[in-house]
Amino acid sequence: MKKVEQIKQPIALEMELFEKKFSLSMKSRVPLLNRITHYIVNRKGKQMRPMFVFLVAKMLGKEHFNDRTYRGAAVIELIHTATLVHDDVVDESYRRRGFFSLNALWKNKIAVLVGDFLLSKGLLLSIDNEDFDLLKIISVAVREMSEGELLQIEKARKLDITEAVYFEIIRQKTATLIAACCAMGACAVHANEDIEPMRKFGELIGLAFQIKDDLFDYGSQKIGKPTGIDIKEQKMTLPLIYALNHADRKERAWLINSVKNHNRDKTRVNEVIAFVKEKGGLEYAIGKMIALKQEALVYLDKYPDSPYKESLIAMVNYVIDRKR
Ligand code: IPE
Ligand code: IPE
Ligand code: MG
Ligand code: MG
Repeated sequence: MKKVEQIKQPIALEMELFEKKFSLSMKSRVPLLNRITHYIVNRKGKQMRPMFVFLVAKMLGKEHFNDRTYRGAAVIELIHTATLVHDDVVDESYRRRGFFSLNALWKNKIAVLVGDFLLSKGLLLSIDNEDFDLLKIISVAVREMSEGELLQIEKARKLDITEAVYFEIIRQKTATLIAACCAMGACAVHANEDIEPMRKFGELIGLAFQIKDDLFDYGSQKIGKPTGIDIKEQKMTLPLIYALNHADRKERAWLINSVKNHNRDKTRVNEVIAFVKEKGGLEYAIGKMIALKQEALVYLDKYPDSPYKESLIAMVNYVIDRKR
């Protein structure tokens, strides 16, 4: 498996420049806001989304690679950061990227406002430069993400989720943004016929990406954010849905009752986790994730070989093999 540094190698200079632009894009006249965004920039994530933007743009039209591509990548990372800040408020989660989340340090009130600030900065970056085609791609993703998170909350209340609904939730809350990265990469270099296939490619990767994230929740590896909190939040993810569908009536009743009424009881949650594992829920989710990855890779077949394409393939593999 390739390491992230190797994957980044063909776009190392672009990523370096991106980081400078990204950090500048958050500037404000309010000192408190600058302290907080400084904190954010110092604890950067994996930056997979800008990597997707750059690799797709370079693979499709390196001769047209310009400032638009950087702005596209910055908008996506700003929106991604905003949604994580809000997501940690929604999920009452106190760790992110190996340190305290904003809501843990500055409380919900400030975290909500900072998320809104980052969102508006992202949209303005496109508007001020008249990147309206990019703005359209990103705005659709923002709408879908909010709908996906709300659909998830609705299903958490009723606990009546099916596999089809799970896929719809993760498509909206996670896959649309990764789809937007790949569509954006094509759009930024004016590879217009490639926008739709790249969007689809990104969507498949995004689904696999969220299944991987949901699998982390069943593990105990150090991933920089809490594990074992999805059940506490009554989030029904693929391993649990599979176990529910393969449980007898008594087990089903026990599972539902555990998630509904005992989701803050650590011992009970651990019993649920053990049950899901015993039923083969993790293997099932891994199988789905691998199938999605393979479906995604087919979209790259028609492009000529290049270091960018090679890295893109490595990125797809990284999505499901990653350790955080
Ligand atoms: C976390 O995304 C949110 C999900 C959609 C699961 P990442 O895992 O890409 O977060 P960072 O940016 O690397 O921290
Ligand atoms: C993905 O869901 C969040 C977003 C799409 C914003 P999670 O709630 O599982 O993400 P993490 O695990 O907190 O990063
Ligand atoms: Mg969360
Ligand atoms: Mg998660």
